[in-house]
Amino acid sequence: MIAFLKDKKIVLGVCGGIAAYKSAELLRILVKQGASVKVILTENAKAFAGPLTFEALSGQPVCTSLFDERGDGSIRHIEWAEEAHAVIIAPATANMIGKLANGIADDALSTFMLAVTSPKIICPSMNTSMYENRAVQRNLDILEGDEYMVVEPDSGELACGVTGAGRLPAPEYIADRLVKRLQPKDLNRKRVVVTAGPTLEPIDPVRFISNHSSGKMGYAIARAAEYRGADVILVSGSTSLSAPAGVLMASVKTADEMANAVFENMENADIIIKVAAVADYKPSEPVDYKIKKTSDNLELQLDKNIDILKEIGRRKKDQFLVGFAAETHDLDSNSRKKMEEKNLDMIVGNLVGGSSSGFEADTNKVTFYFNDGKKESLPVLEKDEVAHILLDRIIEKVAAKG
Ligand code: PMT
Repeated sequence: MIAFLKDKKIVLGVCGGIAAYKSAELLRILVKQGASVKVILTENAKAFAGPLTFEALSGQPVCTSLFDERGDGSIRHIEWAEEAHAVIIAPATANMIGKLANGIADDALSTFMLAVTSPKIICPSMNTSMYENRAVQRNLDILEGDEYMVVEPDSGELACGVTGAGRLPAPEYIADRLVKRLQPKDLNRKRVVVTAGPTLEPIDPVRFISNHSSGKMGYAIARAAEYRGADVILVSGSTSLSAPAGVLMASVKTADEMANAVFENMENADIIIKVAAVADYKPSEPVDYKIKKTSDNLELQLDKNIDILKEIGRRKKDQFLVGFAAETHDLDSNSRKKMEEKNLDMIVGNLVGGSSSGFEADTNKVTFYFNDGKKESLPVLEKDEVAHILLDRIIEKVAAKG
């Protein structure tokens, strides 16, 4: 995982709501990711979570009042606003949302917010009827217009017993949205289709042919593109990974299903990145009953699967098309051959077979081959890092194409 928040100065505002206990966990996650976090508690927040908890977790003094207890004459809310790289308010109450939407500054947090010029993220959390109230929704619209990132609450059972929208999302999700907010939006509104994971080709209802792809590389690319502002469709074979936030998922099993999902979405795509490990062959006649072990040998007849990437290469118009090549040897010649045969703009040659590269690993060793003959080899890197460097190169190439 790239330490996106390393050395970032973040201010966390906490309002008075039952979800304030989750803010402590959010603070812990941000600090773990390398951020330096200062906390401002409203008067009501103190009734739900004490300053000592936040002080201990952040290792910094907590601000609870407009009037500085340090007595050193500094105006803390201005000083903190000037140095912050981003500010998150979680949970944000209807009262605080109303104050911020209308420029009211009558306590430490609302006064501080008027001085903030860095990115602002607000996480509303309250009873469903309150959240759906027209005044609250109107105020949230105003905040969005004022360039706040509004993180929508989850739906579920609330502390008041009601089931509906209003729950503060998981702290991991809020931290992820902060990371997104701080990324450059150099893929803004670009439509990116990524495929990931393995395909499963059924033999009978309980068995299949597949491979070891975990989906980690493809999911890392989908997540990176979403962070950078793209509208991402992730066509994924079976994996145990959670869908990256903000990404549209199309879950498939077989190569035929993957082909249909990709063909449906390729027309409007700007960039297509085909990371999935597609089974080259499938059983000719899968049966709908469990095959019994009645003989010592079993012969399985296989048919060639559709080559999805080759077909995209044949149909493509302006889309920038990227393939992956998983190879155990002759990386250069095999990758270049695939790039040419499949009419690609670039291919990512992936050395597989070791524990630090390829299938299932958290890291990868790849070489980029471009269709102008150039190549670039990367050292072993986290898959998230490979994903961002790959997107950097794609953006450069797309810009050069005009
Ligand atoms: O998922 P992970 O565990 O993180 O592992 C990542 C990875 C090793 C799967 C990934 O980095 C990788 O190398 N993916 C390509 C795997 C592969 O199937 O390579 P290939 O050389 O067989 O295929 C070449 C290209 O054609 C690939 O883009 C593949 O998606 C595509 N293809 C292949 C066969 C087929 N029938 N249809 C296709 O579209």
